[in-house]
Amino acid sequence: MALIITIPGLVRLALVRDPDELLRVNDAGTVVRPLSGRGGLFNRSVAEKLAVFRAADGDIWPAFRDRHDPLRAAHQTSLESALSNIGPLLERIAPEITELGNYVRGGRTPRSMGVVVQQAVGRLFLPDYVASEESYAAARTLQAWLSAWPLRAAWLRRSGALKAALDHIEVASQGDMACAHATALAMHNIVKSIELMRELALHGDNLAKIEPKDAMLRTLRAPARVVREARDGDFVGLVRLRSRTLILLAVETARQQRASDPGLAFFAGAWNQCPAHGLVPALLGKVWEAARTRVIAGS
Ligand code: HEM
Repeated sequence: MALIITIPGLVRLALVRDPDELLRVNDAGTVVRPLSGRGGLFNRSVAEKLAVFRAADGDIWPAFRDRHDPLRAAHQTSLESALSNIGPLLERIAPEITELGNYVRGGRTPRSMGVVVQQAVGRLFLPDYVASEESYAAARTLQAWLSAWPLRAAWLRRSGALKAALDHIEVASQGDMACAHATALAMHNIVKSIELMRELALHGDNLAKIEPKDAMLRTLRAPARVVREARDGDFVGLVRLRSRTLILLAVETARQQRASDPGLAFFAGAWNQCPAHGLVPALLGKVWEAARTRVIAGS
């Protein structure tokens, strides 16, 4: 059952963790992505945070666009179709997959593992995308911004670090907002998975024993939370949402309750389905395979 917190003037919040409830709330007509900032100080501060994902020319990053925004839906469909070309895309990023496989089996990499992941993700959009320690630092700044408490958030804004990170990511993405989303925000889930794969691989003879699909299922991670707002007051199943309630959908907690279904991590089948829902599991499986191949070749 959803946790509802209401403190007048401060916060109006619903935290949803149960998988079925989470999918129902995500699908409800009154539940929207754009945040009004109404409902309390906390609601306002979250809305102000997400407002930075609107580019100077008014373009909005895709995961913050309204469900009924026709541009969002059109971009989602065309990206989904481009990313369904899984074989050739994984071939394109074969050098990065080899590097990640080497990392998973305990090898050292000349650059941060996150840089390799960011470059792999960037190259799904732009074949000559080059990631660096600076571009990865920019992605980490934006990730930190999303979860920062007020003092840190104020520092990130006032120091200029936030603006510099947004500029860096948007320039590297050549104005493609889906590429910006993937190389700044979505990539962190893949970094977590690769880190977990390394832990898994270094334990006993797991690397030889565990098949790539199983390794993928054990290490796939979803975003901790995605944010919505109830535009009007309504019941969604048993959950009573008052108008202007900020809704946190705890995707990773829900996924853990359905760990055999990788689709939940990507909202597969829902209106906001991640366009990379087929590619990411295949990519993780390939990284595990690359780590194993080297073990077998080297043994
Ligand atoms: C482990 C990796 C990933 C996970 C778990 C993941 C999960 C998700 C989830 C849960 C959403 C919905 C967010 C919401 O509705 O608020 C989403 C949206 C999206 N994802 Fe992913 N994602 C991953 C990687 C990627 C990658 C690699 C790409 C691109 C190559 C990508 C592109 C997108 C885009 C463009 C959207 C917005 C879709 C829309 O128009 O509504 N994601 N993703």
